[in-house]
Amino acid sequence: MGTLKFIKNFIKDRDVASITPTSNRCVVKVCNHIDFTKDIIIVEYGPGDGVFSRYLLNKMTPGSRLIMIEANEDFVRHLKETINDSRAMVHNVLAGDVLDVLAPEDIGNVDYVLSGIPFSFLKPVRKMKVLESTKTLLKTGGKFLAYQTSGHLKKPLMRVFGNLETEREILNIPPYLIYEVEKNGA
Ligand SMILES: C[S@@+](CC[C@H](N)C(=O)[O-])C[C@H]1O[C@@H](n2cnc3c(N)ncnc32)[C@H](O)[C@@H]1O
Repeated sequence: MGTLKFIKNFIKDRDVASITPTSNRCVVKVCNHIDFTKDIIIVEYGPGDGVFSRYLLNKMTPGSRLIMIEANEDFVRHLKETINDSRAMVHNVLAGDVLDVLAPEDIGNVDYVLSGIPFSFLKPVRKMKVLESTKTLLKTGGKFLAYQTSGHLKKPLMRVFGNLETEREILNIPPYLIYEVEKNGA
């Protein structure tokens, strides 16, 4: 998808939240948290035009899977038209409804959830629903990785997961704070 089309989506839909796709440098930095040597299941919230999705599919083993959860219909159409990979699947739903579309056998077996959705736009109840659902779908030891514009997710993440690490990527428009949390046994 060209930059102009991405900007048009940003103007039409405030939840797109960014005028341009994430930079390659930031994509690599976030994905450095993922172990691509094993067969894994990744759920991606807010893939947009697929800048992370394509990188993930290039790095993933043939036995891995990528499940994309995207609210914006234009992006969903674009992803379906441009990603032709039997390991990938896209659902046009809100991240808070992810448990409704995942296969029952995948729930509790997901290795990574990667998220670019603007959590700061979500009402507190909806935000907690996304985080609780994320915890439910991850396996023990699975990781939630989120790139966000600020530190507003720290408190809710500590409440739901009880741990977190962050790092910054300033060479991106907008600059991002990258969160990593792990689902532990508790
Ligand atoms: C900041 S853009 C990130 C796009 C892309 N991942 C990237 O890094 O360039 C946020 C994306 O999240 C999607 N989105 C926003 N709220 C969402 C929600 N509640 N559930 C699913 N997708 C959502 C938007 O449509 C958009 O594609």
